[in-house]
Amino acid sequence: MTATVTSTSAQPARAGITFPDGFIWGAATASYQIEGAVREDGRGPSIWDTFSRTPGKVYAGHTGDVACDHYHRYAEDVALMADLGLASYRFSVAWPRIRPDGTGPVNIKGLDFYDRLTDELLGKGIDPVVTLYHWDLPQTLEDRGGWTSRATAEAFAEYAEVVYRRLGDRVATWTTLNEPWCSAYLGYGSGIHAPGVRNPAAALSAVHHLLLGHGLATQALRAAGARQISITLNPCEVSPLDPANPADRDAARLIDGLANRIFLDPLLRGRYPADVLEHISRLTDLAYIQEGDLEIINQPIDVLGINFYNPSYVSAKPGAPGSPDYPGSEGIAFRPPVGPVTDMNWQIEPAGLTRLLTRLHRDYPGTPLMITENGAAYPDGPSDSGEVADLRRIEYVDGHLRACHDALAAGVDLRGYFLWSLMDNFEWAEGYRKRFGIVHVDYTTQQRVLKDSAKWYREVIRRNGLE
Ligand code: FCB
Repeated sequence: MTATVTSTSAQPARAGITFPDGFIWGAATASYQIEGAVREDGRGPSIWDTFSRTPGKVYAGHTGDVACDHYHRYAEDVALMADLGLASYRFSVAWPRIRPDGTGPVNIKGLDFYDRLTDELLGKGIDPVVTLYHWDLPQTLEDRGGWTSRATAEAFAEYAEVVYRRLGDRVATWTTLNEPWCSAYLGYGSGIHAPGVRNPAAALSAVHHLLLGHGLATQALRAAGARQISITLNPCEVSPLDPANPADRDAARLIDGLANRIFLDPLLRGRYPADVLEHISRLTDLAYIQEGDLEIINQPIDVLGINFYNPSYVSAKPGAPGSPDYPGSEGIAFRPPVGPVTDMNWQIEPAGLTRLLTRLHRDYPGTPLMITENGAAYPDGPSDSGEVADLRRIEYVDGHLRACHDALAAGVDLRGYFLWSLMDNFEWAEGYRKRFGIVHVDYTTQQRVLKDSAKWYREVIRRNGLE
């Protein structure tokens, strides 16, 4: 899947823009995607270790066994971040390093690693932003039902508190979950992610238990003294293919319900949307939603993290099989990408990000927003002279930063932008063949090379804006 090359020279001249004072510039990664060292210092197996070793699940049998070897090279990587001028770094903690079997004894050596990383960041003036769950569930918990079980939500809150007790004196911002939509629907619905289950009812109960885990962890973190708590979602920016067609509008509303409102409404309004409950009650008995759960889920949060890559367009198409990523979406067709795409075959449409941010600001007012991921995969590697001319990534990020700026101009309370990703890494089911980094990683030598996008981003940060 090679992307169409768009000519930068054909673009009209763009005006310079400046971001508000204090706008946070960062970059993001996740534990299983970069750390490697999967058997070191007492780490237990996660569902991604199991999944990536299952034939046919991950491209070419790639695993996170070594990844970017960040576990050993974290100091070098933090030095790169400092060189880029990052104000903030979003990383995730691997639950199986902290509690290898999910609920049992705490592994001090696992905590030690994140302690060293935190101090290294602070020593370079970089603010650590911790995500507690970026998909690497301890395998023992999956063996007991994973996110289809309430016990996993309870175990998550205990684990969150353990990490907080060690790092809370130095880490201000705590993100509970990354993209629970992916954990639930890709993990238990379509099965393209770990643990690879294909069962719509399981996916829906996973949604609820992930939300419950967020609520319980938020309560535990607050009680322990956490200052800033957030959750990161990847809302689907979905539009009807033909806005004048009521059936297409219904299709878009259903997908918005299953992808977005099923998370946003419990989190921020304390209830599931009635249309979504009605829809999913055809697929599951809802008995997993217990009295009092919604009060637990509806904890005040300080910031809502948003990951955005591409918009979606849907239409009503009787007889269409729908998407296994959206339980009960039979009769709905997703339009294939139109126009330029990235190496993931994801449509590039920065205006979709402005639409998403203004919609969130309108429908869920009062919660500050943060872009916790945005970026693009392109395969560019070093030339003979060692330069990585990834102009398409620069173009992509430039467009999306302008989209953020448009949202700010429309009154959206957007606090910052974290680029995905600091460096090339293990892209889940795609293995190492998709490269999202602004730093190139040679997986044979583990050599890091700044791509042109990294040098460009350094200038954006320095200028607090775009030329
Ligand atoms: C997001 C994930 C992140 C990365 C990007 C490309 O869904 O949170 O880990 O894989 O997509």
